[in-house]
Amino acid sequence: MDKILVHGGYPLSGKIKVSGSKNSALPILAATLLTREPCVVHRVPDLSDTNYMLQILMYLGAQVERASGTVTVTAEKVNSVAPYDVVRRMRASVCVLGPLLARCNEATVSLPGGCVIGDRPIDLHLKGFEALGAAVRVEGGNVKMFTPRLKGAIINLRGKFGPTVLGTDNVMMAAVLAEGTTVIEGAAAEPEVCDLADFLNKMGARIEGAGTSRLIIEGVKELHGAEHDIIPDRIETGTFLVAGAICGNGVTVTRAEPKHIESVTTALGNAGYNIQTTKDSITVSRNGASKPLELGTEPYPGFPTDMQAQMCALLSTTDGMSVVTENIFPQRYMHLAELKRMGAHVQIEGPRAVIHGVEKLLGAPVMASDLRASAALVLAGLKAEGVTEISRVYHIDRGYEHLDEKLGELGAHIERVKTK
Ligand code: EPZ
Repeated sequence: MDKILVHGGYPLSGKIKVSGSKNSALPILAATLLTREPCVVHRVPDLSDTNYMLQILMYLGAQVERASGTVTVTAEKVNSVAPYDVVRRMRASVCVLGPLLARCNEATVSLPGGCVIGDRPIDLHLKGFEALGAAVRVEGGNVKMFTPRLKGAIINLRGKFGPTVLGTDNVMMAAVLAEGTTVIEGAAAEPEVCDLADFLNKMGARIEGAGTSRLIIEGVKELHGAEHDIIPDRIETGTFLVAGAICGNGVTVTRAEPKHIESVTTALGNAGYNIQTTKDSITVSRNGASKPLELGTEPYPGFPTDMQAQMCALLSTTDGMSVVTENIFPQRYMHLAELKRMGAHVQIEGPRAVIHGVEKLLGAPVMASDLRASAALVLAGLKAEGVTEISRVYHIDRGYEHLDEKLGELGAHIERVKTK
């Protein structure tokens, strides 16, 4: 198992390229199950999560070819059962449910297990499939679904914490082959949902309203193969911008989509950092003393929950009192206990984190608990005095392509070491 050692105090500068989006690639790869014909997907990031998804597709009978960032999937024949051992390693495997139900009129997929970031039920996904006419049973840890024929319906997918991203993806992927028209109200409007809708429309689907809370999907008899470029990863973009803010003097993130991360660049601007954008790049630089912030996570286009941990790392050394409210996963604060080990001054009050900026952090051995928490620990380590030793870095490899090498290109002193 690897560890990452971050030697703090080295300023970052220069340009760094963004990879394709993990949270777009996963549902798009699952959507290739909807046709017998080959689908060619470009800019698929090399991550353990995308590799898991390809293994699941192969387990379900698809042929998969990969040449660096381009993946070709041909799902000529598909079996509709994805057992625990195949899907247990990644929650996002749940998004094969919709394509299997649409393609095979039945599906048996293991229910996703627990998650450290909080309670993550899939009741809204199942509500959507039932509304489309599927009989849904949860037994023996599996979701079992059957339908003689999916039929279009009006479905509201808004839950207690707002819309659901993968729920919208899943129901949309089922509805594209249903008889008649489906209307999804309370749909998620994330750029990754739009990218999936774009890919499905290239396959011959008829989806309107992507990017709004109301999707109209006119079912078609069958879909054909398609070719698609995955959008840039906005959370990776945001993570590098926070790295540039935390200890940089001029970091430019290229091959990015500035409008997808506006809520983060606005927050960094409010905290006193300089932000300059072009069509496909964003530069962050210091502009005198930084300021504390009050921010709350929201569904898109609000401030993303997947950037909350990284911002906590930044605010932990920003003079003054900041307040962060986590509205999507209220318990998503595993990183704070580790930041405290580095000397941060933080209090958790329900879904709120009250952060009193300290002058400096000190390097320490810390433990990664989930993907974004581990990124936050790397960022804190860049700023801290001494060496921060991060264990369980497999969490980082789930969602960041070569993070340590990329930060090294910006001047970070960061190394990966093998441990027994
Ligand atoms: C997606 O997860 C992302 N994952 C998450 O990113 C991200 O944090 C999340 O959306 C929110 O933006 C992928 O795209 C692979 P949700 P998803 O359903 O779709 C509740 C990362 O770091 N809910 O939008 O699983 C749920 O508990 C990951 O890359 C229900 O109550 O999240 C949460 O409070 C972590 N019932 C809220 O809705 C449901 O059926 C939003 O969750 C579904 C969700």
